[in-house]
Amino acid sequence: MFETLEPLPPDAILGMMALYRADPDPRKIDLSVGVYQDEEGRTPILESVKRAERAVFENEDTKTYVAIAGNAAFNRGVEGLLFGDAHPAVADGRVVTLQTPGGSGALCVAAHLIRRARPEARVHISEPSWPNHIPLLTLSGLEIATYPYYDQRAHRVDFERMVDAVEKIPAGDLLLLHACCHNPCGADLTRDQWQTLAELCERRGIVPFIDLAYQGFAEGLDEDAYGVRLMSERMPEVVVVSSCSKNFGLYRERVGSVSIVAANAESAKGVASHAANVARGIYSMPPDHGAAIVARILGDAELRALWEREVAEIRTRLNALRRLLADKLAERSTPVDFSFIANERGMFSFLGLDRERVVALRERFHIYMIESSRINVAGIRPANVDYIADAIAAVLE
Ligand SMILES: Cc1ncc(COP(=O)(O)O)c(C=O)c1O
Repeated sequence: MFETLEPLPPDAILGMMALYRADPDPRKIDLSVGVYQDEEGRTPILESVKRAERAVFENEDTKTYVAIAGNAAFNRGVEGLLFGDAHPAVADGRVVTLQTPGGSGALCVAAHLIRRARPEARVHISEPSWPNHIPLLTLSGLEIATYPYYDQRAHRVDFERMVDAVEKIPAGDLLLLHACCHNPCGADLTRDQWQTLAELCERRGIVPFIDLAYQGFAEGLDEDAYGVRLMSERMPEVVVVSSCSKNFGLYRERVGSVSIVAANAESAKGVASHAANVARGIYSMPPDHGAAIVARILGDAELRALWEREVAEIRTRLNALRRLLADKLAERSTPVDFSFIANERGMFSFLGLDRERVVALRERFHIYMIESSRINVAGIRPANVDYIADAIAAVLE
């Protein structure tokens, strides 16, 4: 039977990583990776995570299964991060949260739950979006549509076209929005734009579906949850998925969450029972370790303060690197205005270079990025930024 399975084309990002590893040139720079890197090019374990992990090891006394919904303290802690301390939807018992295997697991559970509740609903995703959104959501059988989001020439959110497209979405469909640090373009919605979308979703009966994979990396922990909190105040139903991979650096521990805001506490009971049943049918129970660490950090004032400082350091570094690269490119008077890099947020931005120039950067200068010219800002260092800016200026000549 398996002879029917032809090998799929190699994954573009993994292929780029392999090329990078094989390049012996000492000047090589990797701007293609999808994870955070520090000044030394490492993806570090946060100090708050190390300390919490030690406490978890010392105190754990069983390896029996966790509940299907996961660690209750984790779920409460994450609800606080997402919705704030006194959100009316949480206070009214309308929010159901499950710990999931990463943000990917959360997307998968959400997709199956939506499919069960309304099989004909379509999820509208931004063009472009994180490439894994489509496979994760369609595995449940859900249909996907796209809406225009990013203007590749102007390097900004094309809000007019986005609104035009959202105006045509039928009632009951879902609108997938990146809460902050849009992956892959780095261009986020302003507060006014969130307000406009909230009004639009309310008027048209569209259900917001918000993906928050980089909370704390753009403007701040509370600031980055603005859209989640606004939509959950205004709308009867909202789907929120979050990931602890980036902001806790817990990538391989696979920890994330799905929160469903239901129309009322009664409906939340049905959601809780079906969400648990969906999770049971996919992976039964989530892994414990990462969520136990997060629960400990969020439940301990000292550890939490340390974690918040560590996230702030990452955010400050990313934003400083953005500014630095934009300034260095401006000094070189390139024909393209790269000031947008400093205005975008999170790890990713599109440089807006064509394929030929991306290949030239790789072959002539040993600078690696995805073919779409998406870069990970975290790969830039003060020591290599002049080289990067010179190389970009050279390929634009
Ligand atoms: C927008 C977005 N959503 C979800 C995820 C999933 O994260 P996880 O690694 O926790 O599954 C990612 C990871 O890169 C992402 O960029």
